Amino acid sequence: MARRKLVAGNWKMNGLATDLAEVAAIVAAARDVATDVALCLPATLIERAASAVPGFTVGGQDVHAADKGAHTGCVSAVMLLDAGARLTIVGHSERRLGQGEGDADIKAKAEAALAAGLDVILCVGESDAEREAGRAVATVCAQLDASLPSCDGVNLAVAYEPIWAIGTGKIPSIDDIGEMHAALRGRLVAAYGEAGDAVRLLYGGSVKPSNAAEIFAVPDVDGALVGGASLKAADFLPIVEAAASR
Ligand code: PGA
Repeated sequence: MARRKLVAGNWKMNGLATDLAEVAAIVAAARDVATDVALCLPATLIERAASAVPGFTVGGQDVHAADKGAHTGCVSAVMLLDAGARLTIVGHSERRLGQGEGDADIKAKAEAALAAGLDVILCVGESDAEREAGRAVATVCAQLDASLPSCDGVNLAVAYEPIWAIGTGKIPSIDDIGEMHAALRGRLVAAYGEAGDAVRLLYGGSVKPSNAAEIFAVPDVDGALVGGASLKAADFLPIVEAAASR
């Protein structure tokens, strides 16, 4: 099935008001490309970015599973939506590892975000040790099965992000990406039936202008989740263009 590609930037804990010019440059250049583009910004920039670039998809990077309450420092899905976000990442490995989030937490976050009306990018990925032990596919499929939201599969994307590839400049072989995405597609179809075939499967981890085209050529790679290379329009736009030209 032909799926429109999605290239989403993940700014992580980067970005001040002075960086809104970079957002504007990305949006201006990405407006007419034949691919979906989004920027998942720090919560502090979402409202200003969403106001500055109406119509462009601004996202958050995490969400709490509850709508409101005594959760100091957290942001809920309705708050993200209220600030102008239209999607959110959940389950990034930096939260799974850094904040101790498990599959059940991530499933609850995804369900809360979808219920509030946000699109969701759900991240999964194996460690170096798991890949070395030959358990990458089994590990990531189990992670996906346990963190997939109970839903109709619409408004959901999944990002395969090997932990050892994030911010390191290393990527899996093209064959390994293809093997993983095919396996994940199988799990999505098992979970959602035909709708699982329409869920976009992104690759993330050291995507750069120099490797984007070969990654996007892999069957079942429907876009990318881009960290470091999404911070500057000069790095991000060639990745967007590589997706649009597939
Ligand atoms: P990277 O990060 O592109 O800097 O490797 C990707 C991510 O963590 O989403």
